[in-house]
Amino acid sequence: MKAKGAEMAGKDCVKVAVRVRPFNKREKDAGSRCIVSVSSNTVTIQDPRNEQTRRTFTFDYAYWSHSGFTRNRDGLFVPEEAGGRYADQGSVFQDLGQGILENALQGYNATLLAYGQTGSGKSYSMVGYGPNKGLVPTLCERLFQAVKVNQDNRQCQVFFSMLEIYNEQVIDLLSKGGRAPGNLRVREDQQRGFYVEGLRKVPSDSATQVEQLMDQGTRTRTTAATHMNANSSRSHMLIMIQLKQIFSKENLTKQSNIYLVDLAGSERQRSSGSEADRLKEGTAINLSLTTLGNVISSLADAALGKKVVHIPYRQSVLTKLLQSALGGNSRTVMIATLSPADICYEESLSTLRYAERAKRIQNKAVVNESPTERLVKELKAENAKLLLRLSRLGQEGRRADEETKELRRLLTHNELQIRAIQTLWEQHLQEALKDWELQYATITQERRMMQMHPYILNINEDAQLSGVVKLFIQEGEWDVGLAEGSPKAISIRGLGIQERHAVFTNQQRTVSVTPVAGAKVTVNGVLISQKTELQHLDRLILGSNSTYLFIGFPSERSGEDWSRYDYDYFQSELAAAEGIHIGDGRAGASQPDPSLLPVFYDYIKLMPMVSEANQMSQELQKGVEFKLEIKNLAMSDSKGHDLEKEVAVRVTSVENKQVWMWSKAKFVNRKFLMEELYQQQVVSGEGSDRTPLPRDKDPFWDPLEPLHLGSAHLWLQSLAFRIPLEEQVEVVGPEGTEEAILQAQLVPCTPTGLPLGEEDILIDPTELLGKRLDFQLVLEQCCGLRWVKEAKNRGVQIGFRVFDSSQPLYTPAVWHNVNPLLDHRVQFTALRTSQELLSYLQTSALVLELWGLQEGCSDMVSNMEGVKMTQEDSIIIDKASQSETSAVESTGSDLSSSLRALHQDVEQLRSANAVLRKENSALREQLSMMSKNGQQERRGSLRPSCDADFARALKVFYHSMTAVKGQLQRLRRHTPSEEADLLSLRLYVDEHGRLLRDFGEQLEQSVTALKQDVAAIVRRKREKSGIWSGTG
Ligand SMILES: Nc1ncnc2c1ncn2[C@@H]1O[C@H](COP(=O)(O)OP(=O)(O)OP(=O)(O)O)[C@@H](O)[C@H]1O
Ligand SMILES: [Mg+2]
Repeated sequence: MKAKGAEMAGKDCVKVAVRVRPFNKREKDAGSRCIVSVSSNTVTIQDPRNEQTRRTFTFDYAYWSHSGFTRNRDGLFVPEEAGGRYADQGSVFQDLGQGILENALQGYNATLLAYGQTGSGKSYSMVGYGPNKGLVPTLCERLFQAVKVNQDNRQCQVFFSMLEIYNEQVIDLLSKGGRAPGNLRVREDQQRGFYVEGLRKVPSDSATQVEQLMDQGTRTRTTAATHMNANSSRSHMLIMIQLKQIFSKENLTKQSNIYLVDLAGSERQRSSGSEADRLKEGTAINLSLTTLGNVISSLADAALGKKVVHIPYRQSVLTKLLQSALGGNSRTVMIATLSPADICYEESLSTLRYAERAKRIQNKAVVNESPTERLVKELKAENAKLLLRLSRLGQEGRRADEETKELRRLLTHNELQIRAIQTLWEQHLQEALKDWELQYATITQERRMMQMHPYILNINEDAQLSGVVKLFIQEGEWDVGLAEGSPKAISIRGLGIQERHAVFTNQQRTVSVTPVAGAKVTVNGVLISQKTELQHLDRLILGSNSTYLFIGFPSERSGEDWSRYDYDYFQSELAAAEGIHIGDGRAGASQPDPSLLPVFYDYIKLMPMVSEANQMSQELQKGVEFKLEIKNLAMSDSKGHDLEKEVAVRVTSVENKQVWMWSKAKFVNRKFLMEELYQQQVVSGEGSDRTPLPRDKDPFWDPLEPLHLGSAHLWLQSLAFRIPLEEQVEVVGPEGTEEAILQAQLVPCTPTGLPLGEEDILIDPTELLGKRLDFQLVLEQCCGLRWVKEAKNRGVQIGFRVFDSSQPLYTPAVWHNVNPLLDHRVQFTALRTSQELLSYLQTSALVLELWGLQEGCSDMVSNMEGVKMTQEDSIIIDKASQSETSAVESTGSDLSSSLRALHQDVEQLRSANAVLRKENSALREQLSMMSKNGQQERRGSLRPSCDADFARALKVFYHSMTAVKGQLQRLRRHTPSEEADLLSLRLYVDEHGRLLRDFGEQLEQSVTALKQDVAAIVRRKREKSGIWSGTG
């Protein structure tokens, strides 16, 4: 493209607008807070964790579309009151769209980019929803109005193209006539720059035509998404409008390209959280988006005067096509969209930073003179010369047949070319019109069908693509599946759809669906296997994840709002069928716990992905199964507080039962890679000569790692009294299952490891303070290991972390045994028991983690680096109190270290103070309780008693309770077998009754013994002190 008059070129900075959308349903459910504010053209965002941290950005425009709006009679979102601050679609067009239009009419190239997180409102701003038309349709409408107004002084030609970039592939969204839409090539031309070879350009002369083309494009996008099993929010949508204005009087042609770009969701480029994935390096989750970011950064740097050697335009398809838009010959506008919810803080801040960089970019836009006009001029000039030579040849009368022939051939060729250039537009327009009429007929036909028959309507994760496909169920029987061509078949494609998948019947005004053997069909969240009648607005999932809403007979429709049946609704329903649900906002439903919402939404987001991954694994014969789990559902920390819940994916190899646990981020990353692999091997039909991937590149494979199976809690309180503890603790899995029983002991001992005797029991734990404490942890045996029961070739280890030790310790691995002996004994020593350690013992449990090993994975090894030992090989804990001593010793030598020590002292005193205060208030409460009970307050009654009798009684009680607990666990484990018949059930009930009786008796005995002992002690005390009179 040659530019007219380079001297006209000025510098144009990229204009940037930011738009804030309303809360969506999820955000409202979660009780989100709005953390973004807009004032004239500045946007301020506040860190939800730290109210003081605010950042303010200034842009060319800032739009508040979050609140202060209402829906008018036509369904338009408009400001609540005239002149309100709500920015509606109209006002956004007025600022951004109008400028683009004017620039294009002047002959400049113009570009509009929408950037933002998935669901932040890019498509809403660009394309719009229903009556709330976005920038593109309005721009086209105004463009054709301008064409009409100006038709006296110029002829305008408008060509419309629409393409999608998915995973670096270019898909022509308007391709027709059986041409595969995929995989067009991007080429470079000296004059034109980068262009898409073979992209269909449709001549258009009305906004209605363009709107219809956009519908067609969206439809292709929807089907391409299912064919390629692609996620639309990963793809970029580009609309190209070529405007050619021919001013015949002035003998001038202006040509401009308008690019309108709805970019992929921005969060995809930051594959956050998948750091731990070994395949992360190879993934360019979205090369185009990443490169766009790099190009913008480089250009912004260049604008700031930094030295930039290279702008990486050539690294991705998108940046090639946008080369002129960024730093080139174009007037460019970016609209950055964001959600103002607190939970989107990170993403929104990153969007604002991105936008800030983009606004620095400087372009040099020029008015473009059309090459066609020049070509015609050149051809005409050449023809004139040819004619002149011909006439000279004739005059000279020389015999120059050969030359004359050649000159005449050239002349005709040129004439033809001129005519071709001039008639192209008319011809193309005629052709397009024919197409258009055909399509119009199809649309009218579809509308008529909608008024006559029930149908199913596609529901997509991307709201833009929902409701695009309608499949009619006319009277009779209809096969649904991949198979095409048969007259009684409805053809659908998608993961897990069989050749013949299900049969729809429409008879006697009822519609039913019957799955074909082996086909997955879900109705309202429930998997069906038999003929099932469908009701208006039933939810249907075919195969892994082809989601449809059933629309009943016209008489059953009553103008209800179908929009509530969105993708989330379908997935929530599926989750509910699996027993995972939260309040659904219906009347009477309890309010969901907001802290659980993120896990819930993660769950329903991953659910369809897991189902698709399973289907791909099956088709690619990978032999692994994926299952969604909620981690930490039943887990607590050492203080007994619930651990934060998160979703994870359990991967199991079907054949050899190997198991992996993947984090959400890792799974999402892998799912992209699986899609790519699937695309290569199945969709492109290279299935037959499938070369197996090397293992280290296979997204379905990973090296084996130990798995965390569950945890048990061993409460440490008895150590504060120097009382030994022997326990059988239950190891509980993440979802509350019993994974094993662990026999463990805590034994207070001497420095050399000899158990302490009864005389060492403390009545007042504070006596421990400042003194040395030694104790041993004994892990004796693990019983009933579910992990090994499932597959014999497995092993386990126990991991634990005591107080302030930084690294966990592990028992040696034990293999192939359901009830392995561990016989593991570790001694710990606190040289000077600190208040922290004491509080820890009084309030915490030792969390014993059960780790599962599988053949081929390496054991977990205790990292002894930095671990200090006593001479007797005991591990030293409570090191802070150690450093306190050493700090005191080195007083004077190092001021800063003593300062540090002082700080620590202060900290310790502070926490000691807190503990004392707590004790104090507990004591006070006790006091008031006693006086309330009418008991006489006695001197000395709260004095720490030194009575060892009491301690002994307690100890006996402790011991007997251990036995009782064991009995309880036995009871818990005692369940009838699954195939039990009546007789064995009766036997089971008898046995259970006996166990229960035993349990009751033991409990009774222990309590009675304690009561008797305490009574005896009290009696003895009374006798001794004589303070108590003989009452009661
Ligand atoms: N300004 C707005 N006013 C009202 N509703 C909006 C606005 N912006 C977005 N929405 C709504 O938010 C939802 C998501 O918006 P949209 O589809 O535009 O997101 P997106 O950024 O294109 O996401 P994706 O990256 O997945 O394509 C839609 O239901 C849309 O109607
Ligand atoms: Mg979108």
